This record gives sequence, C-alpha cells and structure tokens, in this order.
Amino acid sequence: MMTVEPLGPAHAGVCAALHGEAFARPWTEQAFADLLALPTTRGGVLLEDTEPAGFVLLQAVAGEAEVLTIAVLPARRRGGLGRRLLGWAMERLRDDGVSRLFLEVEAGNTAARALYAAAGFEQVAVRRGYYEGGADALVMARTLLP
Ligand SMILES: CC(C)(COP(=O)(O)OP(=O)(O)OC[C@H]1O[C@@H](n2cnc3c(N)ncnc32)[C@H](O)[C@@H]1OP(=O)(O)O)[C@@H](O)C(=O)NCCC(=O)NCCS
Repeated sequence: MMTVEPLGPAHAGVCAALHGEAFARPWTEQAFADLLALPTTRGGVLLEDTEPAGFVLLQAVAGEAEVLTIAVLPARRRGGLGRRLLGWAMERLRDDGVSRLFLEVEAGNTAARALYAAAGFEQVAVRRGYYEGGADALVMARTLLP
C-alpha cells in the first residue's frame, strides 16, 4: 500500500537517506533537522507499505510556497511516485490557502522538468550559471488557487 505521511522533526534521518540516494551532493541529516524545525516547512514521505521510497520538502510563506527538494529512490522511479508526492503537496498547500508554488530545476534535469511540466508548471525565469559547474536554473511556477 502506498501512503504519504506528513514530515516532522523525526524524519530528518529518512530525508537525508533518501536525498543521499538521489543527489550527488547530499544534504546532511542536521540540515534536514534544521529545516524540519521551522514552522514554515512542509513536506511528506511516501511509504510503500512501511518502506520510505521518496519525499518532498517545501517552504510556505505568506501565501506562496517553494519546493526545496523532491526525490524518489532510483529503483522506484517512473512508477508515478514523484507525481503522487507533488500532487499530495499541492493539495495540502491549497488547504493551507497557498495560492502559488515555485521551484528551481537544473536545465539538464530532464526527468524533473518532465515531471513538473506534467504537473502544470511553467517556466517563469532563468538563472544563468546558478549551479556549481555553471548549469542554468529554470524557475518554474504554477497557480494553486485562483
Ligand atoms: C524527478 C523525480 C522525483 C521523478 O520521480 P518519478 O517517481 O520517477 O516520477 P513519476 O514516475 O511520477 O513521473 C511522472 C511524470 O514525469 C515525467 N517523467 C518522470 N521521469 C521522467 C524521465 N526520466 N524521462 C522523461 N519523463 C519523465 C513523465 O511525464 C512521467 O509520467 P509518465 O511516467 O506517465 O510518462 C526522480 O526522477 C528523482 O528522484 N530524480 C532525482 C532527484 C531530482 O532530480 N529531483 C528534482 C530536483 S529539482
């Protein structure tokens, strides 16, 4: 069974483990603990039965929110988990009255760009040379509430 559980301070370790499987530059458990301690942090971990398979982390401030990171375990990709996590997050943000959701994605990250496009995000800006190594960041956004 697939469920999404809201993230809290107890999830720093699981976030660090999932993030470490997905990114070349993993964030530390302490970094996640600091983020999860903030009242503005939102997010969820996707469980397959009891096994964590992905997570999404966001910040919501003054009616707007930003995806800080989203990741699915490599072996579990292309099964709709990323879509499910993003959809879950957007639903909860709407319930909280958040009207617009932003994110940044590396221009060469085809999988993430395709996920975001499929979820209704549109490119609103480019940050040239934003990432280490010089890759551009695309800023994408979508409206959640009219
Ligand atoms: C981006 C990521 C979270 C997507 O998770 P996922 O569970 O594989 O995505 P889904 O299966 O829900 O895909 C949803 C849709 O996105 C698109 N998509 C996802 N991965 C894709 C890929 N590799 N190539 C092309 N399209 C892709 C497709 O439209 C897909 O729908 P479809 O399978 O019905 O065609 C995952 O690839 C990941 O963890 N990547 C590493 C971390 C990362 O880059 N995070 C984003 C940082 S901005």
